Amino acid sequence: MDLNFFVSEIRKRTDFVPRMGIVLGSGLGAFAAEIETESAIPYEEIPSFPTSTVDGHRGRFVFGYMEGVPLVLMEGRVHYYEGYSMEEVVLPVRLMGKLGAETIILTNAAGGIDERLSAGSLMLIADHISSFVPSPLRGKNDDSLGVRFPDMTNVYSPALRRLAKEAAEKLGIPLPEGVYLQVSGPNYETPAEIRAFRTLGAACVGMSTAVEAMAARHMGLSVLGISCISNMAAGISPSPLSHEEVRENAERAGADFKRLLKEIIKKAGKENE
Ligand code: HPA
Repeated sequence: MDLNFFVSEIRKRTDFVPRMGIVLGSGLGAFAAEIETESAIPYEEIPSFPTSTVDGHRGRFVFGYMEGVPLVLMEGRVHYYEGYSMEEVVLPVRLMGKLGAETIILTNAAGGIDERLSAGSLMLIADHISSFVPSPLRGKNDDSLGVRFPDMTNVYSPALRRLAKEAAEKLGIPLPEGVYLQVSGPNYETPAEIRAFRTLGAACVGMSTAVEAMAARHMGLSVLGISCISNMAAGISPSPLSHEEVRENAERAGADFKRLLKEIIKKAGKENE
């Protein structure tokens, strides 16, 4: 994967330099309507760029401003379960970093394991468990991005987490912190798996964010992660899980999510002035 090729493809289309990159997860794409858009680039217009095949993921970069902060949004991401390699899965995050983003905000829909969570609520990612999926850093290391053996002690920036908690408190939105565990999907988990994950310390489970966070950290970006709890995980919820339920609940949490994200961007923008 030649990252510089993709940078030049984007640069043929826009010279916009974002300071922040935001990945919008399942059902959260509506946030893109909130920014003052400068330009939008559908993934399929970028030659050989991995495109999302999942319902609920629109698949484009949106460049623009929110609260005066120049940012790039990924409306829809690609997942490992779609058949892409991990290197392809993290390409868009690396690209946002190469285009100028210093901070990456990763959002997702996730299944709640911790009983403090409920469908439609939000969770701040304190840390993650990625041991059930391959590392996106496997293979020859690109030394221009980062070191071979990167430290993962603070994947999710303590400063950004503090800022997110302050923003949530100001808005009166509950934002408990917890550990996100990544699985490969596309199937949802069995109740036995969820019990095992709880024992391991996971508060929620999803199919995307940990590897993106690792790739971002590898290249020295500051990362914030927010999970939208779209359903309680298998065996906790009495009903079978469905993608429709996941999307509906993610959209239900959308109003809180939009307000919170806006406030975080505002605060982060001020701190970096
Ligand atoms: N499990 C895994 N990934 C998910 C879930 C889930 O229950 N809900 C949304 N993404």
